[in-house]
Amino acid sequence: MRWLLLGFGEVGSCFAEALRVAGDPVRVYVRRPDAISARGEALGVELASQPHGHDADVVLSCVWAGAAEDVARQAAGTAAAYVDATNAGIAATERMAASVAGFHKAAILAPVARHGARTPMLLAGPRADELAAALNERGFNVRAVGPEPRQAAAIKILRSVATKCIVALLHDMQAAAARYGVEDQVLESAGEFFATEPFADLARTLLRQSGLHAERLAGEMDEVAEALRVAGVSERVPDLAREVFREIAAKGGLT
Ligand SMILES: NC(=O)c1ccc[n+]([C@@H]2O[C@H](COP(=O)([O-])OP(=O)(O)OC[C@H]3O[C@@H](n4cnc5c(N)ncnc54)[C@H](OP(=O)(O)O)[C@@H]3O)[C@@H](O)[C@H]2O)c1
Repeated sequence: MRWLLLGFGEVGSCFAEALRVAGDPVRVYVRRPDAISARGEALGVELASQPHGHDADVVLSCVWAGAAEDVARQAAGTAAAYVDATNAGIAATERMAASVAGFHKAAILAPVARHGARTPMLLAGPRADELAAALNERGFNVRAVGPEPRQAAAIKILRSVATKCIVALLHDMQAAAARYGVEDQVLESAGEFFATEPFADLARTLLRQSGLHAERLAGEMDEVAEALRVAGVSERVPDLAREVFREIAAKGGLT
């Protein structure tokens, strides 16, 4: 398989190396070929100063997210498959999918510096299964998640609601726990609760239960709010949870 990589930073150079180790021909587009010629030579990649006009089976874009659309426009039509591995969001992904033939979205889920080409990635687009298999044969760690490119971008962004917003909840919980002198015990107790089931199963159980008991759960937020208030901590978390439970109750359960 012949690859054209766009960008030769942390991600591009790591992916280029893995594809070269697998024995594939790799060409790399960079704005200033002279700046990376030694590294490129060491890896055996061919450098190009334009992102179009090449003979490639797959274009793999590893440029800054802000440059993703511009570069995609320039490279459109260069190969039958185009994979954008940048942090471009859902709207940018939809625009690229509408204008670039064979467009696919890859979402890199962890720092490449830590895991190299084995970094977990999601891939979505019309040939996602086939391209994920091709990459995995070459030492990557890719999971195909659907035929619509935006699916990969959406999963990466939306999981942040759990993986990043939870930090706000933990912050307020621990701020109050510190006032009561129970920081470690609260964390351990919450940890035991979360360890009862794999996370996705537990989440489904909690959502199902909240659909059945939304009114009661909304009332219980008053006690949580009081505990935080007494500790001098903002009541924003139980306030938001109460609002969500009331919304679920008003709808008559989860839709
Ligand atoms: N590194 C990670 O662990 C990681 C994890 C998740 C997602 N990502 C995403 O993967 C993408 C690449 O990240 P990275 O860490 O490899 O970044 P990086 O080390 O900063 O490299 C970015 C590359 O993009 C090129 N570039 C930027 N603007 C360009 C433009 N207008 N035209 C052509 N090339 C351009 C840069 O070229 P110059 O050298 O000429 O500036 C450089 O080769 C980003 O979208 C990032 O958000 C990275």
